[in-house]
Amino acid sequence: MDALEFPRAAYRLHDELRTARAHADALFRLVAPETLYARPIADRHRLIFYAGHLDAFDWNQLARGVLDLPAFAPSFDRLFEAGIDPEPGQAPDDDAGDWPALAEVQRYVERTRATIDAAIDRLPSERLLTALEHRWMHAETLCYLLHELPPELKRAPDRFRHEPILAPATTTAWTNIPGGPAQLGQRAGQFGWDNEFPAHEVTVPEFRLAHHKVTNGEYLGFVAAGGPAPHFWTRAGERWMLRRMFGHVPLPLNEPVLVTQRQATAYAGWAGARLPTEAEWQRAAYGAGHRSYPWGDAPPTEARAQLDFTGWDTVPVGANRASATPEGAEQMLGNGWEWTSTPFHGYAGFRPRTYYPGYSANFFDGAHFVLKGGSVRTAARLARPSFRNWFRAEYPYMYATMRLAA
Ligand SMILES: [Fe+2]
Repeated sequence: MDALEFPRAAYRLHDELRTARAHADALFRLVAPETLYARPIADRHRLIFYAGHLDAFDWNQLARGVLDLPAFAPSFDRLFEAGIDPEPGQAPDDDAGDWPALAEVQRYVERTRATIDAAIDRLPSERLLTALEHRWMHAETLCYLLHELPPELKRAPDRFRHEPILAPATTTAWTNIPGGPAQLGQRAGQFGWDNEFPAHEVTVPEFRLAHHKVTNGEYLGFVAAGGPAPHFWTRAGERWMLRRMFGHVPLPLNEPVLVTQRQATAYAGWAGARLPTEAEWQRAAYGAGHRSYPWGDAPPTEARAQLDFTGWDTVPVGANRASATPEGAEQMLGNGWEWTSTPFHGYAGFRPRTYYPGYSANFFDGAHFVLKGGSVRTAARLARPSFRNWFRAEYPYMYATMRLAA
């Protein structure tokens, strides 16, 4: 694909790159340096990998890939190049001692950043956006890793909300989504990842969709009937607790349940419903494609969406009345990604980027499913209608919720 040019945005992109660096750096400082050598999720690298990976990506993609600069630390360029997503049971078995000292990693990071900053005007916007969005995506997945660490290993930020917000209990209410066109994908000439192209229209038959995401309280009935307990729930004597980022709270019954795609599918079947397809979700959230957000064109605010780091955890499903679509579906954006029933594949006409061929295509295996929307730890930049997320059906660590369709 030809590189796209948006030259007037370059300086703002540089500012945003600095912001994204500071944001991710602060996440690493939530834990002590020695904790960076822990592996909170067996299927992912140790935290120290990510401390080097974000800038190794920028080096490999921008300094080497665009500017053709000679490597100053080729072993680090390779060591920190690629994340992992192994088949179940194929987790890596490296030792903490296999990884370099934090100070060495930091020197690599600093030199990489200085090199890229000095050449920022020579980097095409599309490539800069790739690095920027890559970093924002990791800002979220880093939270998934940190979430798995025991609370005593993390320093909570000064200002964060821990206790559940009291909100009226919600019951499942349904809305009709009229049949009609949905616009999938990103328009040519706009930035997007390879899996967002080409843009195309799909006609969606009329269907029903729940106003709200499924709550912990609703899912509790499924668990009582023998269904699998969500990964983020933990038992304390007779009652269920929710593992928040910085501690455990009594299960907030009116907050969305965080589930795997398998659990979501099983729950939906138990409830006499199903998950929406990607096209149905798109139709419900964006109608015929004439609005920028589910609620309209006004930008996201905390009242409209639990998105862009407004907090660290889920909030009640009724907390964002201002997010309602014309049909009344709330929180289509924010407060947890929503699983679809659609396996992750390229759209007809998909072409991988020559400079990052495996970004999506490596996951077109039928084992990964599309998620839409976003979580409280998703950067606003990623909250465009065409953005697609994907994970394995049984992967339990991300902020993934569900909404019933019928
Ligand atoms: Fe990455």
